[in-house]
Amino acid sequence: MCGIVGVLGNHEAAPILVEALKRLEYRGYDSAGIATINEAGELDRRRAVGKLVNLSDTLVHNPLAGKSGIGHTRWATHGAPTTENAHPHKAGPVAVVHNGIIENFRELREKLAAEGLKFLTETDTETVALLAQSHIARGKSPKEAVAATLAELEGAFALCFLFDGEDDLMIAARKGSPLAIGHGTGEMFVGSDAIALAPMTDKITYLEEGDWAVITRDGAEIYDHNGRLANRPMKQVRLDSARIEKGGYKHYMAKEIAQQPTVVGEVLNAYVKDDRIAMNLGGIDFADVDRLSIVACGTAYYAGLVAKYWFEHYARLPIDIDVASEFRYREAPFAPKTLGVFVSQSGETADTLAALRYSAGKVDKIVSLINVPESSIARESDVAVEIHAGPEVSVASTKAFTCQLTCFAIMALKAAHDRGHLDDTGLAAHLADLRQLPGLMSHALTIDTATKEIAAKLAEARDVLFLGRGQMFPLALEGALKLKEISYIHAEGYASGELKHGPIALVDKATPTVVMAPHDGLFDKTVSNMQEVMARGGRVVLVSDARAAKEAGDGVWQSLALPEAPELIQPILYAIPAQLLAYHTAIAKGTDVDQPRNLAKSVTVE
Ligand code: F6R
Repeated sequence: MCGIVGVLGNHEAAPILVEALKRLEYRGYDSAGIATINEAGELDRRRAVGKLVNLSDTLVHNPLAGKSGIGHTRWATHGAPTTENAHPHKAGPVAVVHNGIIENFRELREKLAAEGLKFLTETDTETVALLAQSHIARGKSPKEAVAATLAELEGAFALCFLFDGEDDLMIAARKGSPLAIGHGTGEMFVGSDAIALAPMTDKITYLEEGDWAVITRDGAEIYDHNGRLANRPMKQVRLDSARIEKGGYKHYMAKEIAQQPTVVGEVLNAYVKDDRIAMNLGGIDFADVDRLSIVACGTAYYAGLVAKYWFEHYARLPIDIDVASEFRYREAPFAPKTLGVFVSQSGETADTLAALRYSAGKVDKIVSLINVPESSIARESDVAVEIHAGPEVSVASTKAFTCQLTCFAIMALKAAHDRGHLDDTGLAAHLADLRQLPGLMSHALTIDTATKEIAAKLAEARDVLFLGRGQMFPLALEGALKLKEISYIHAEGYASGELKHGPIALVDKATPTVVMAPHDGLFDKTVSNMQEVMARGGRVVLVSDARAAKEAGDGVWQSLALPEAPELIQPILYAIPAQLLAYHTAIAKGTDVDQPRNLAKSVTVE
C-alpha cells in the first residue's frame, strides 16, 4: 500500500525523502509527492502522477528547500491517481501523508462542509488535514489538534503531519498500518518500514496499535491510544543496504529468483540440525493437535495449499485452508485442539491480520510464517516462524514462496514425527531430501535460456491454462497467478482432473496449456489429461523431468526438463519454472516486471 516517510534533518530534506520513497515504491506507484518547510517557515509541496521518477523530474525544474519534510508514494484507494489526489494533502497550516483508509470520511466531510471548509480532492486523506486545520483554527496547538483529529477517525491509518512555522515538529500516528520511527544524531525519521530508513539509521522504534508520537530533532514522545505516555523500545535492526539493491540484475524479480538456492539453504540451516528438526514452535507437540486452520492471501495462500497436501499425507493431520479475505466473514466453527496458521511475507497484509485477530482466543495457538520479524502479524502471534527469505522487493513474490514452502515441509515432517507416522529413520531420510534442495534449485535455474524461448511464444497468447495434479495443483495456480500478475496475460490454473468438467471448452490452438508434471505417483493420470488437451488441438508446454518427458510420448509442443527430485520437494523445485515463465513472458511483452500495474507489495487495506 502507500509508503510514508518523514524527516527532521540537518540537510536538505527533498533528496533524502525521494531516496527513501524509492525504497518504499514497492508499496505503490500511482503518484508521489513531498512537502517541506522552507526557510521562511512555510509549507510547500510538489506532487506528480505516475512513478517516482516523475516527481524527481518535477523537483529538478521546481526544487523544494527545507530540512524538514514528509513524503508519500501512493496506491490509490479513494480518488483516481491525479496530481490533486496525490499526497501530501494540505489544509491551511497542516500537511499530512497517509497510508490506509479513513472509513468514516464521508460523515466527516459533511461535518467539515457544514463548517464551510472546502474540499479540493476526492480522497479520504484530505479530511484528516481539514480536521486538524479546523482544530487549529479553534485555538488548539498542533499536538492538541492531532490528538483531537485522531479521536474522530475510524479505519486503518498510518499518518505523518507537518505544520506551517514548525520546523522542528512532526507528528506520526499508527492504527492498523505499520509505522517506524528512526533515531539519528540530532535528526529523526519516520517510515512505513525500516527498509525506507536503512541508509539513515538502523535504530528503530516501532509504534504499536493506537500509538501516536510527537517528534522533534531531540527524540520522540510516544503516547498510547489512551493518551498516556508510552515507553516503546528502540531496537537496532539488521538491514544491510546491499540486500535491498538489485545487485547487477536487471530486475529485483530476477535477483530474487536467483537467490532461491541460497535462501532456501538458510532456512535449512536455521531449522534442520543433522537428522533433527530444530524449529522452535514454542513447545507445540502435534500429537496434541487435531487440526490446522491455515489462512493467507495470494501466493502465500498457495504455499498453504501445498502444505495441506503435506500435512495430510505425511502427518495424517486434517487441514482447513482459507483465503484471508473470506475467512472471518465465513464464520466457520473452530474445532477444539486447532492451531491457527497465518502465512504472510510482509506480515502486514490487512486481510491476514484481521483473520488472525478474529482467530485469537478461538484457536489453541496462533502460529505465523513471516518474513519480517517486526511485522504486525509476527508480533501478534504466539509463535512466529521466520522464513529467512531476506528483503523481497519485487511485487511478485518468488523467494518468499519457496522459503514458506520449505518451512512448511519442515513443520509437516515434525508433525508426522510427533504423531508417530514417521520414525527417526524416515525423518532423517526426508530431511536428507530437503537438503538436496539448494543443489537441485541451482540446477533448475539453468532452464533460464530454454524458458526464454518458450516465453517468447507464450507472449503471443491471450489466454494460458496451467494444469497440475495433487501437490502440483497449487503450483498450477501459482504459475497462472505469476503470469497474469506481471505479463497481464489472462491465465487460469486448474487441477488436471477438473479440466474435463468445464475448462476444456477453452482449449484451442491459440491457448497454450502449461502442464506441471514431475514423475510422481499421479504422472500417468496427468499424461491422460494432457492427451485430452492435445486431442483437441491444444498446444502443451510440459514442465517435467527427463524420465517423465520420455514416458509422456510425442505430441508435446514445448517442454522444460528439470532434474528428477524426491516427491516431497517437487513443489518447491517447480516454483522455479513457474516464476521464470512469467518473468520472461513479461520481458517479451515489455511490461513493468517489478512494479506491475495496479498492484502493490504490502496490501494494508482490506
Ligand atoms: C503474488 C503476490 C501476492 C502476495 C499476497 C500476500 O505474487 O505477491 O499474491 O502473495 O498479497 O502477501 P503477504 O505474503 O505479504 O501477506
